[in-house]
Amino acid sequence: MKLPIANNKINLTINSMKNNRRSFLKLSGFAGLGLTGIGFTNSLYTGSNNQPGVRNNQQNKAHSQHFNMCGFAAPKIETVRIGFIGLGNRGPDAVERMSHLEGVEIKALCDIRPEKVNVVKSALAGTSHRFTTYTNGEEEWKKLCEQPDIDLVYIATPWSMHTPMAVYAMEHGKHVCVEVPAAVTLDECWQLVETSERTRKHCMMLENCCYDFFELLTLNLVRQGLFGEIIHGEGAYNHDLLKSNFSKDTYYDMWRLKENFRNGNLYPTHGLGPVAQVMNINRGDQMEYLVATSTNDFMMSAMAKELAAGDDFYKPFENKSYRGNMNITTIRTAKGRTIMLQHDVTSPNIYSRIYKISGTKASCLKYPTPGRMAFGDKDWLTGEEFGEIETQYAPAIVKKVGEMAKKVGGHGGMDFIMDWRTIDCLRNGLPLDQDVYDAALWSAIAPLSEWSVTNRSGSIDIPDFTCGSWKKNEPIDISLERGGNTKVLA
Ligand SMILES: NC(=O)c1ccc[n+]([C@@H]2O[C@H](COP(=O)([O-])OP(=O)(O)OC[C@H]3O[C@@H](n4cnc5c(N)ncnc54)[C@H](O)[C@@H]3O)[C@@H](O)[C@H]2O)c1
Repeated sequence: MKLPIANNKINLTINSMKNNRRSFLKLSGFAGLGLTGIGFTNSLYTGSNNQPGVRNNQQNKAHSQHFNMCGFAAPKIETVRIGFIGLGNRGPDAVERMSHLEGVEIKALCDIRPEKVNVVKSALAGTSHRFTTYTNGEEEWKKLCEQPDIDLVYIATPWSMHTPMAVYAMEHGKHVCVEVPAAVTLDECWQLVETSERTRKHCMMLENCCYDFFELLTLNLVRQGLFGEIIHGEGAYNHDLLKSNFSKDTYYDMWRLKENFRNGNLYPTHGLGPVAQVMNINRGDQMEYLVATSTNDFMMSAMAKELAAGDDFYKPFENKSYRGNMNITTIRTAKGRTIMLQHDVTSPNIYSRIYKISGTKASCLKYPTPGRMAFGDKDWLTGEEFGEIETQYAPAIVKKVGEMAKKVGGHGGMDFIMDWRTIDCLRNGLPLDQDVYDAALWSAIAPLSEWSVTNRSGSIDIPDFTCGSWKKNEPIDISLERGGNTKVLA
């Protein structure tokens, strides 16, 4: 069938487990299980409940939804007063981006290393922002969360601190934006859900890749029906961080290298977030179970030994067991779709988040860049054809702040689009695009994949953090019909 696309300038031709699981992991919902390392207290069982259909009942027994945070809109905050915790590699750029937005006041800066706060303090000199600084030890961030004139706590610390900081902030009446992943164990995922529902505070994970230009365009095309039904998606975080992980001064206290003592997909959300949005996960579809497998470690142990031979600093890392370099995780959804994720941050790959979407009418693939799209059984669109699609179907948010985002920057602009959208929603009293269920679900893939890897790629159920409300939750609003009035300052 020939489908004329919009202005008729172009015509696109559009045509149309192995189930050997012997055991299910019985997850206890909010009673929660830390699935990492020692202390892993899962309870395997093979009784009559060992069926996919009953497992959500099992999981949800311990947590019943206090309040549905999907679609939740907090009262408008005309001026959003922000406190930042964690000013290492990532945090300072967030402060800078936020300083470009109307209706933002930077009220507090915290880092355990005073020199990191000083750098940002200097950068803000001469601006209208008046802020308190917190640098006096490991627990100082609590004082920031307790500071009364703060609306939003923005967290960019090592992963293990994300949930304790987010929970404490919400308990002290603050909305939260937390870097990826929001949690590292299933127990933490449930803590976030329980706290956000009880306090009615937003807990948004800062999955910036949902705001990249190609991903936003694809989401818009999917919403307009050009991809038909979505069948399958792929995502990844393949990024060679081997040297950074072993560097003495890239990450605070070598935290990122130490995370690699766990074996699984530790950083699933960059690849997963945009795919989940296209599939309306938590809002019409849900993830049911996953299987994960990892290669051996061919890189990290060797590097640790090599470094330790010449430098005692590396001796504690010499005899550690490191995660397999490549992890592949496959997820099946309630609607029968599949998602494949890859994670490799330690072998010499070219950066890739894959971003492949297959629908009944179209498909796309972003990495290598530039992204490609194909409709029906035709070849990839030419650059010219793709350009026309880009213009014709430019998402509302890109039309609004896309050009400015490219100027301000942050991974090509997506970080700025994310921050602008978040502040605009808070200022207009709108639901945020990513809620606590997304934060919990996307983060949970890491501990679940660890379990699967440890159990010979066994299949494991994925908790339904929405407690069934995914069946009725509305997809995120990408129209920008409400809000969209936050100005960008020069
Ligand atoms: N979304 C993205 O594209 C993206 C990119 C980079 C990093 N990140 C995420 O950002 C987070 C931070 O990464 P990073 O590269 O900036 O790491 P980093 O080590 O450079 O920064 C973490 C900062 O937290 C501070 N910190 C540690 N303990 C603290 C405490 N108790 N109180 C206050 N501050 C404390 C450290 O001093 C450090 O400055 C991670 O979650 C990472 O995954 C996301």
